[in-house]
Amino acid sequence: MTDQSRRTFLKQAAIGAAVLAYPSSSVLGANDRVRVGMIGVGDRGGELLNEVRKVSGVELVAMADVYSRRRDEVKSKVPGIQTFDDHRRLLDMKDVDGVIVASPLHTHARHFLDTLAAGKDLYTEKTMTWSIPEAERCLASAKDSGRIVQIGLQYQSSGALVDAKQWIENGWLGKITSVESWMSRNTPHGKGQWVRPVPSDCTAQNVNWSAFLNGRPERPFDPFRLINWRLFWEFAGGNCAENMVHQMAWIMTALDLPLPSAAYMSGGVFSEKDGREVPDTIAVTLDFPKDIVVTWQSTFSNKHYELGDRILGSDGTVEHHFDEPARYWPEKVNRPDGAEMRGTSHDQDHMQNWIDCVRSREQPNAPAEIGYRSAIAVHMANLSYKNKRRITLEEAKAITPEF
Ligand SMILES: NC(=O)c1ccc[n+]([C@@H]2O[C@H](COP(=O)([O-])OP(=O)(O)OC[C@H]3O[C@@H](n4cnc5c(N)ncnc54)[C@H](O)[C@@H]3O)[C@@H](O)[C@H]2O)c1
Repeated sequence: MTDQSRRTFLKQAAIGAAVLAYPSSSVLGANDRVRVGMIGVGDRGGELLNEVRKVSGVELVAMADVYSRRRDEVKSKVPGIQTFDDHRRLLDMKDVDGVIVASPLHTHARHFLDTLAAGKDLYTEKTMTWSIPEAERCLASAKDSGRIVQIGLQYQSSGALVDAKQWIENGWLGKITSVESWMSRNTPHGKGQWVRPVPSDCTAQNVNWSAFLNGRPERPFDPFRLINWRLFWEFAGGNCAENMVHQMAWIMTALDLPLPSAAYMSGGVFSEKDGREVPDTIAVTLDFPKDIVVTWQSTFSNKHYELGDRILGSDGTVEHHFDEPARYWPEKVNRPDGAEMRGTSHDQDHMQNWIDCVRSREQPNAPAEIGYRSAIAVHMANLSYKNKRRITLEEAKAITPEF
C-alpha cells in the first residue's frame, strides 16, 4: 500500500467508525424552537446565516469556523452565539437540533457524517462530497440515520422545476433524447473568476490549519489556499462542482434520470492562466441509460447567455433560465394543437423547507439521494477530464480518488 492509499484508507476507516452510532434526538413539535448551529461561515455561510435567521422559530446558537475572522464576524451579527474553531465541539452541544454546513468541498463528507453521527439534522452545501466513495458513504449514512438532510441545491425548490416536471409527465415533450445546458461568467481582464484577496489577519495564529487540511498532506500554513481553495483539485471540484451540479440536479429531477452511464469532459485553463488547476472552460457530455444525452458548457470569458437549460423532445421544448419561469413550446409536427406555456408555480424558500421538514420529519426538496446522483455526475465528468478519456460509471466507481 502506498503512503497515499494508506492515508486515504485510514481516513475512510475513521469516517466509517464515526457513523456507527446515531444517538436518537427528541422530536420537535410544529411550534417548537429549532436550535441551529453552523459549520463554515464564509461567503455562502454568511448568506445562509441571513436566510435561516428569517425563518420564524429558529434560534442560531453556535457556529464553528477554523478562521478567527469568521467567528468574530458572526459574533458581531449574533450576540451571545457560541463559537468554536473545531466543528466537533459544536456537535457535542446537546441543545443543537440542526446544523448548516457551508465549508469547502473537501470537508463536506467529514462534516456530513459527523453531524449525522451526533444525531442532528443537516443542511449541507453542494456538491454533496468531494469524491465518489465519500458520496456512497454519505448516502448510506443519510438512509440509516433517519435524520433530515437537505442539500444546498436550491433550484430543487424552484417553481420552474415543478412546471417542467409536470409538462414532461403530461407527455407534452414526447420522446426526449437531448438536453442542452450552459453556464457562463466574465471578469475584468487580468482578474480570474473566484480569485479572492487574502485578508491581512489570515495568519497561522488565527487559523486552525490542520482542521482545514482535513487529511490532505501536511504543509506549512498557506493563506492563499485557505482563501482560494476553489482553484485547486485537492480541495475543490472546479466549475462542475460549483455550478454544473445545480443544473444537473434540476435536469435529473425533471426527467427522473438515473446515474449517467458515461461521461466525457474537455476544456482547460484558458481564460486566465493564474496558477489555478481547475479548468475555466468546459464542455461536458453525459450519456444516460434512457437514450438521453445531456450536455453542459461553461466559460469564464463571456457571460452573454448566462445560465440555462433546454430540454428537447419530439413533441415539445422546455427552456429554463436562471430565476425565471419555465417556458414550453410544442413541436407542431407532432403536437399541432399544443399551446405555448409559461410556468406559474412559485419558488419555495429552500431553507424554510428544511426547517419545516425538521419539524414534520417529511422528506425535503433536495434530499441526500439527489445530492448523491448529482455528485456522481460531477465526479464522473471531472474524472474524464483528468484521465483525458470517456469514463463509464463502473470505471469511475473503481477509481481511488487522489488528492
Ligand atoms: N448553493 C449555492 O448557491 C452556493 C453558492 C456559493 C457557494 N456554495 C458552496 O458553499 C461552500 C462554501 O463556499 P464559500 O464560497 O462560502 O467558501 P468560503 O471559503 O468563503 O467559506 C468557507 C468557510 O469554511 C471555513 N472552513 C474551512 N475549513 C473548515 C473546517 N474544517 N471546519 C470549519 N470551517 C472551515 C473557512 O474558514 C471559511 O470561513 C462550498 O461548498 C460552495 O460550493 C453554494
